[in-house]
Amino acid sequence: MVDLRGTGDLVNLAEFEAAAKERLSPLAWDYYSSGAMDEITLHDNREAFERIAIRYHVLAGTAQRDLTTQIMGRQHEWPVLIAPTAFARLAHDDGEIAVARAAAAEGVAQVLSTLSTTSIEDVARAAPGGRRWFQLYVFRDRGLTTELVRRAEAAGYEAIVMTVDAPLLGRRERDARNRFTLPEGLTAANLSGSLAKIGTDGLDSGLFQFFASVLDPGLTWDDVEWLASLTNLPVLVKGVVRGDDAERAVERGVGGVIVSNHGGRQLDTSIASIDALPEVAEAVDGRAAVLLDGGVRRGTDIVKALALGANAVLIGRPVLWGLAVDGEEGVRRMLQILRAELDLAMALCGAASVEELWPDLLV
Ligand code: FNR
Ligand code: LAC
Repeated sequence: MVDLRGTGDLVNLAEFEAAAKERLSPLAWDYYSSGAMDEITLHDNREAFERIAIRYHVLAGTAQRDLTTQIMGRQHEWPVLIAPTAFARLAHDDGEIAVARAAAAEGVAQVLSTLSTTSIEDVARAAPGGRRWFQLYVFRDRGLTTELVRRAEAAGYEAIVMTVDAPLLGRRERDARNRFTLPEGLTAANLSGSLAKIGTDGLDSGLFQFFASVLDPGLTWDDVEWLASLTNLPVLVKGVVRGDDAERAVERGVGGVIVSNHGGRQLDTSIASIDALPEVAEAVDGRAAVLLDGGVRRGTDIVKALALGANAVLIGRPVLWGLAVDGEEGVRRMLQILRAELDLAMALCGAASVEELWPDLLV
């Protein structure tokens, strides 16, 4: 049981969001908080969790709760990972290094973004005890793409997460208005030269332009096979919301499928991730790991995702809020709150371990 006494005034993740908004530059706040277009999916990711009710068990003997979970044959202390989010140094100078240290201290694996503001190697060096996966954007230049995979392998990353919901970047209208670009002193640290600057021609979001010009908009299932043949690390595909696509992924030998709509930042009005989970879990049928992200803010959200077939969830924006509030310490406190909420939710719904979370718990 995590002891939350003395962790400060912020008692839940929503309060971290409000505190972060006070501290972030308007450019960073807009970039982090935005969804695509009308932000229907951004909000629905939350509302879909709220629509699900829990039919809890009583008198189930839950004095001790075991929060451990298995993902691709490896044990994780509790069923949460850090989702890949670009440009963490917009929130705090220590950026991805603070996240890596907080993640290691709190027993969660970090998925590092291709577009991190700290390099693959520097993040690995900063938290040697931590566990890391690497999120890959596939460049038109397959030489550069291959080099990123090799660097992640060499630095001890345990898996490659191929993001498949972004052939082009979704339209975030606040970023377009801000002509989003990285401030002086920050770069996409895994890239070099002009690529690393995420520059804008002054007419649009520089990130939107970056996606349109250097990432490959034409990926197919053959590219998943290509990636799987390139590396011995397990490959996960991130951004799947349909059972038939999950089946295609499993046929290509992926280690896992991440149910995600990119935090509502890609195709607006797409299905909420928790609503997409049941059909993906049914299609995968235990042949690969199933993870979910999008709108996870409460311990009860994690219970719902696990009950509907996820092995674990990832959290995106709350990590950036923790960073903005208090660097490494802020991320740790945010994770401690979430873990304590999960533990409490399991006690109250009568589940002593994650194996006891089944769909019949929910309506
Ligand atoms: C993201 N996300 C993302 N995904 C990815 O595969 N590569 C990336 O570089 C990024 N970058 C990124 C930046 C920011 C600011 C956000 C908010 C999100 C998507 C991310 O991995 C995840 O799918 C969502 O953030 C999950 O939703 P929540 O937890 O933010 O609601
Ligand atoms: C984003 C990209 C970088 O969501 O994935 O901003």
